[in-house]
Amino acid sequence: MSGSVAILGLQWGDEGKGKIVDLITAQADCTVRFQGGHNAGHTLVIDGQTVALHLIPSGIMRDNIPCLIGNGVVLDCGALLKEIAMLEDLGVDVFSRLMISESCPLILPTHIALDKAREAHKGKKNIGTTQRGIGPAYEDKVARRAIRLCDLADEDYFKERLKSLMAYHNFMLTKYYNAEAVDYKATLDKLSRYRQILVPLMVNTGEVLFDYQSQDKNILFEGAQGTLLDVDHGTYPYVTSSNTTVGGVATGTGFMPAWSMYVLGIVKAYTTRVGSGPFPTLLENDIGKYLGQKGHEFGVTTGRSRACGWFDAVLVRHACRLNAVNGICLTKLDVLDELEEIKVCVAYQTAKGKVDTAPSCARALAQCQPIYETWPGWQTSTFGIDDYNQLPENAKNYVNRLQELIEKPITIISTSPERNHTMILKSPFDG
Ligand code: GDP
Ligand code: IMO
Ligand code: MG
Repeated sequence: MSGSVAILGLQWGDEGKGKIVDLITAQADCTVRFQGGHNAGHTLVIDGQTVALHLIPSGIMRDNIPCLIGNGVVLDCGALLKEIAMLEDLGVDVFSRLMISESCPLILPTHIALDKAREAHKGKKNIGTTQRGIGPAYEDKVARRAIRLCDLADEDYFKERLKSLMAYHNFMLTKYYNAEAVDYKATLDKLSRYRQILVPLMVNTGEVLFDYQSQDKNILFEGAQGTLLDVDHGTYPYVTSSNTTVGGVATGTGFMPAWSMYVLGIVKAYTTRVGSGPFPTLLENDIGKYLGQKGHEFGVTTGRSRACGWFDAVLVRHACRLNAVNGICLTKLDVLDELEEIKVCVAYQTAKGKVDTAPSCARALAQCQPIYETWPGWQTSTFGIDDYNQLPENAKNYVNRLQELIEKPITIISTSPERNHTMILKSPFDG
């Protein structure tokens, strides 16, 4: 059966999207990134070999699958070329399969300098960004002064645009943030070297997807970050600067919202967050440390350690509703293996009483006290299990309770970083 599938994170990112996109690509005809940039870090483990991707869709490890970077992605050309080189070194043919929207706004070195300067200026109140220039690049897009990939194609126009945009950035850097200016000439030379390589990869992603759709191809959209980092629906201002939720698929690629799509939400069996912002179920104790160690919770992009906590069913249910999720993939169940007891947040205690929906305001969320339900652990290894019947009863009970609480069926369960250590109870491409 043909169709399209969107794979979206339902927490604060790092839910295991890369692993699942790589796995599901076996049934896809193409994979597409629609938002974010190289702030993402998606890990694939294939026959013991680990590959970390930041910009290129995680379908790239499957032979012959076209990979598209949609217009909603902010593009750091240098980071992209580094990633292409890494993949080509592994013997992966990228150039014949990668297509990039001509409308992608470019991330310039000044965006990165501004991101760093702003974070430093905010001190302890910073967002904890990945310092990849994501926020400043999206600001320029919305302010209608961004330089887009298609602008790189026209040498003279590009020169002129770069000069005026960098003059503005450098004014902000030196006069407002007291930081160093970035050299225009060096930037121009660097970006001009990318022209010949990147211009041939440029496409109109909306047109390409229209053709695929007309041919009944299976299109797989790969979300970056997670729902709670969405600029509109997340824990603002502690969010990224793009729409990580399902609407981003349409605006970030030109894919028609009216075309039907199966939404697969990805959640960890617990919760992690990297960067600042409220986190009601955070565990600042030995269990939190245990989850971090057992789950290897270190950022793929920045190497920062991720804060860990219990599963928050209030926030995940909210994320399911926002994205019209059809099915859930639960990852990292194995990380809970050794715990005697496992807690799940089922509601919050607030000054106004008990609530079971999340407040929109981050300051209000920070005041919420989680109300927990406690479940017995299974205290036996589930690592690598790929058959649901092999799961211990208490693990099955935990999975069943989560799906009741979040009001969506858990259709895929992952028990290790490896591609095939996964139970597919229902394939998203089967509708
Ligand atoms: P993404 O950003 O959503 O693609 O996730 P990341 O790659 O940043 O982080 C997920 C981490 O968990 C990676 O190191 C994966 O290899 C790993 N992982 C994914 N699924 C599982 C799982 O089921 N069990 C374990 N133990 N690790 C997993
Ligand atoms: P993947 O795709 C987890 C977080 C940063 C920071 C906030 C804003 O691997 O799940 P930004 O650099 O985007 O302006 O930072 O968003 N963040 C992520 N956290 N996983 C990610 O991507 C993230 N991308 C950004 O830590 O809190
Ligand atoms: Mg990640």
